[in-house]
Amino acid sequence: MREDLLQRRQKVLGRAYRLFYESPVVPVRALGVEIIEADGSRLLDAYNNVPVVGHCHPRVVEAQCRQAAILNTHTRYLTEDIVRYAEKLLATFDEPLERSMFTCTGSEAIDLALRMARMPGRPQGIVISSHAYHGVTALAASVTPSLGASWQREPWIRTVTFPREINDEDRGEAFARIVREAIDDLQRSEFGFSALLLDMALASDGVWLEPEGLLGPASREAQAAGGIVIADEVQAGFCRTGTHFWGHQRQGVTPDLVVMGKSMANGLPVAGIVGTAELVDGFGSQGRYFNTYGGNPVCMAAAEAVLDVIKDECLLDHAGLVGAELQGGLRSVARASGARARVRGSGLFAAIEFADAKGELDPKACLRALNAYRRAGILVGQCGPDNTSIKIRPPLPFSRRNVEEIVAVTRDVLASEAAD
Ligand SMILES: Cc1ncc(COP(=O)(O)O)c(C=O)c1O
Repeated sequence: MREDLLQRRQKVLGRAYRLFYESPVVPVRALGVEIIEADGSRLLDAYNNVPVVGHCHPRVVEAQCRQAAILNTHTRYLTEDIVRYAEKLLATFDEPLERSMFTCTGSEAIDLALRMARMPGRPQGIVISSHAYHGVTALAASVTPSLGASWQREPWIRTVTFPREINDEDRGEAFARIVREAIDDLQRSEFGFSALLLDMALASDGVWLEPEGLLGPASREAQAAGGIVIADEVQAGFCRTGTHFWGHQRQGVTPDLVVMGKSMANGLPVAGIVGTAELVDGFGSQGRYFNTYGGNPVCMAAAEAVLDVIKDECLLDHAGLVGAELQGGLRSVARASGARARVRGSGLFAAIEFADAKGELDPKACLRALNAYRRAGILVGQCGPDNTSIKIRPPLPFSRRNVEEIVAVTRDVLASEAAD
């Protein structure tokens, strides 16, 4: 079946799509943190943050089905669902974030945030991290250097590389100095400095979440220079880091705009921005914004159910407790393994970075590890410069038993790397 489907897929789908793993996953159903394949095999999902409260959570499924049977329309009519969701969502933020707007994808939300940051009359220059991923629309792709060779650097962009070999205490200040240089450079240019845009987990830069407050100094430099800070929470948000609901709260950042997506509705296309009244209303006063499917009642029902489940099932505390065991377990097997592997992360977000004998980042070792996890029945991903880290980022209901399973498999994976 796998081979036949693969051939049919190659005939009808665009070549830009890529499948994960040497042996592609053929999922037919999923529940909680488990995915079942067509041949009946069971996979532990340690990768997907979209089904944030677990695959096919019954309360989310019920909410979306119920709403689909009543009414599904758009945001140009006065319906309560979107207002109630916005109220609940905004309650998770600190002041001064008090306005929201909804899109279907994170890319559209990045696009919208950049349009707000670069409104007519404002400076145009944007500072981003050197391996960032922010999306696929033309504007989002322009702030996505992790596209590699196909990325076209716009003259109004400056990239900053996160300092790797600096100890925990000094890393935040060192990064702030690098950001300051990029801001100065933009300010000397015709573009000026508009915004610092950062993924709040720096996921594509290799996952940098320690120590708490890490990105505070850089964000304060940006705001002191008269710019705004855009926090991309597509990966870091929704309790992922185990200490705070939002990544920016952990990172010590007070953003002007926040972009979110993926986890918002457990798999339905919901994304959006939250921002200060000044920026969001300023954008609104310059023109209209309509997104046909963004914020529709079915999506809002699913998104509201996600927030309710997170609260009722205490998933922030859960991510903190189980996440601490995940981080501790991975670090201890990495130390004991003798492999050149370094673990980073917080809560239910971890990266295992591979290096070669010369200390250079090692994409081949990472790819071997990725497929070894797959063979052992665990889905993980890759991140970091040139895909040199294994990315572990499971649905939040990941249990202690699931942690034991992934730590045991990690021990085997790293043992074979050490022997390599
Ligand atoms: C940090 C980050 N920002 C933005 C996006 C774009 O979101 P979407 O794929 O929903 O367009 C992604 C997607 O992976 C992401 O990881």
